[in-house]
Amino acid sequence: MPLSMASIWLLCAVAPCSAHGAVPGASGAPALGPAERARRLVARMTVAEKLSMLHGPAGGSAQCSVSPRCAYVGNVAPIERLGIPPINMNDGPQGFRTADAQKGTSTAWPAGITLAASWDEAAALEWGRGMGKEFYDKGSNIQLGPGLNVARVPVNGRNFEYLSGEDPYLGYRMVQPVVKGIQSQKVLANAKHFILNNQETNRGAVSAETDERTRFEVYYPPFEGAIEAGVASVMCSYNKINNVYSCENPTTLRELRSLGFEGFVMSDWGAAHSTSIAAGLDVEQPGQDWMNAELLEAALKSGAVKEAQVDDSVRRILTQLYAIGVMDEPLGTWDWRNRLRNVTTAASVASARKLSGLGTVLLRNEGQLLPLRKTGQRVAVIGLADEKAIYHAGGSGSVEPSFVSTPLQGITDAAKALGSQVTFDDGSCALRAAALAKTSDVVLVFVGTLSAEGSDRGSLSLDVGVDWHSQNALVAAVALAAGAKTAVVVTTPGAVLLPWSREVAAIVSNFMPGQQAGNAIADILFGHVNPSGKLPLTFPNHDNETDFSPAQYPGLPNPRVPFYAFYTERLLVGYRYYEHHNISFTTGFPFGHGLSYTSFEYSQLDIQGTLGGMKVSFLVRNTGSLPGSEVAQLYLYFPEAAGEPLQLKGFQKTSTLAPGSAQEVSLLLRPRELSIWNNGEHRWMPVDGRFQVRIGSSSRDIRIKGEFFYGTQAFV
Ligand SMILES: *[C@@H]1O[C@H](CO)[C@@H](O)[C@H](O)[C@H]1NC(C)=O
Ligand SMILES: *[C@@H]1O[C@H](CO)[C@@H](O)[C@H](O)[C@H]1NC(C)=O
Ligand SMILES: *[C@@H]1O[C@H](CO)[C@@H](O)[C@H](O)[C@H]1NC(C)=O
Repeated sequence: MPLSMASIWLLCAVAPCSAHGAVPGASGAPALGPAERARRLVARMTVAEKLSMLHGPAGGSAQCSVSPRCAYVGNVAPIERLGIPPINMNDGPQGFRTADAQKGTSTAWPAGITLAASWDEAAALEWGRGMGKEFYDKGSNIQLGPGLNVARVPVNGRNFEYLSGEDPYLGYRMVQPVVKGIQSQKVLANAKHFILNNQETNRGAVSAETDERTRFEVYYPPFEGAIEAGVASVMCSYNKINNVYSCENPTTLRELRSLGFEGFVMSDWGAAHSTSIAAGLDVEQPGQDWMNAELLEAALKSGAVKEAQVDDSVRRILTQLYAIGVMDEPLGTWDWRNRLRNVTTAASVASARKLSGLGTVLLRNEGQLLPLRKTGQRVAVIGLADEKAIYHAGGSGSVEPSFVSTPLQGITDAAKALGSQVTFDDGSCALRAAALAKTSDVVLVFVGTLSAEGSDRGSLSLDVGVDWHSQNALVAAVALAAGAKTAVVVTTPGAVLLPWSREVAAIVSNFMPGQQAGNAIADILFGHVNPSGKLPLTFPNHDNETDFSPAQYPGLPNPRVPFYAFYTERLLVGYRYYEHHNISFTTGFPFGHGLSYTSFEYSQLDIQGTLGGMKVSFLVRNTGSLPGSEVAQLYLYFPEAAGEPLQLKGFQKTSTLAPGSAQEVSLLLRPRELSIWNNGEHRWMPVDGRFQVRIGSSSRDIRIKGEFFYGTQAFV
């Protein structure tokens, strides 16, 4: 049905056009290459046509159902004369966000942070492909994602959308397969938000006060990963950097180009504040307050903007449209009526379930309470496990699926196969829940909290952010009654405080699991899937554990409406701060932590200098009794004089290892991983001296240590 609709539209829209417009890819055969095809097409465009590509529709903002210009979240009008299709962009980073009328027609995938917790590049590729396919099927050729900002501020309301957790190297690695996956579906990826949009509090005006080294070492690497993967577009952010708005900031936009970016820069929605094409902005969205024909023509006339700059911007857009394959699709592919299609399939639902399981982290498992393998048990399910279950967070990163698998349903199905009986209590009365816990063989408590774009969480406590009863009191009461047989599942948009963590036997975190929340968590709890996720950020012992002064966060002069946030911690973000200050974990859990139902042993460390850097190899053996895979992590101490904190510089997830079997893991430290950014020289400079290598199962569970000398000294 939708297909035939599309072909009818093709007939109507294309038939009256000139022969040039009717043939997709009219501006040269693919053999010419995207840059040359774009150059030839730009040469045929009028100034008015060129300017029309640099902005959204007049007054563009709210999504509508009456016109192709507002049917998606953002749009650039087509140029039918030249066969240039409409550019239909849509939220968001974890699936296609539908307007009200189309709810239930796209898949709520697990969020970026859940994928970050998988540390699994194959999973990231599958996620990118799966989402990209749904955008394509909806007629959208730009996905407004992936989100990449490093979680500097633990309470940041958008941390759930981001693939980096609190580590630039993790983001650098995880984003690459995501971009490749999205763009393999002929949909442009959009890496966001560039840059330093690390808090939602007064995000539209706060200035991130940073030095160059901090930007290059902590905040740029995930964007570099996107660029290396060929990302077509980057979204400049709402905030300022060193007092200049991101979308008109010549310094950071020049630095973006210095990272090798050849695609186009598009404003976040309403983040343009001037006709800033000369500073490096290519496209304003969703409207045309600043990058409109009138202002651009005036700037051309006055000489403030050169026509060559306009050509460059248009060429960058068209090059990407050619490179990703948008220009060579039949025009009907991008028909706005395609947005009504139901693009959720059995395959996407199955993939959402699998990916959620891969991003689930087993934080604690005393007495091997999990997995639940015994038959004929009385299983209590308590808390946010029914239709109140949390599966996605708010804002432009939200997706409303056609159905949600609830934990209660997933567990009931899995328990049935074991002849176990499930009793549910919503947890609204802690005493009643504790009484049920006491008389059960196993207790599964579901707690969680939420956040959304536009504001930060008031605290990392479970009792803030979701309209529900005191969840900490609930868990504490259940723990008192039945702690040794209690597993708690925490579903959160980022870091969370677990004050009762040492009083319950097991804890599992699935972050924002998407619409297959229930089936995926049942897979883990019942051992159909052996957990292999690792925390992509630190779970602190208490709020504000990194001692942010008001100047650091939320910022000054008035912390409620801050205009300046000073990044004086520089490189000491997340676990780097914990290492530097030797903070131990009493109720929280360290970066990189995550258990398995089996156990792994590390041995045979070998470090060799090679032409490409240093090769670090070791063996990971499954010493337990179940098949499983391990994410082996490499942390590096630089020579002291470099002033670098301990940091992640390598990781690899093993294949599924059978009990007793082993895999050799080989990690390459390229010269770049052994360099620091020099502010004076404006470049990476290799460090000479003795490096210490720490290999382990988390940033605090180091299994083998080694060292090597690197630099000019090593080679004279
Ligand atoms: C969309 O398709 C999925 C998978 O086939 C189905 O479960 C769902 O009900 C459909 N949604 C609507 C709104 O029809
Ligand atoms: C966080 O801790 C720092 C240092 O102890 C303190 O100055 C600041 O006020 C605290 N911030 C909050 C929000 O409590
Ligand atoms: C770090 O803390 C642990 C436990 O609190 C202590 O045993 C150790 O000596 C400390 N190390 C340093 C370098 O301060």
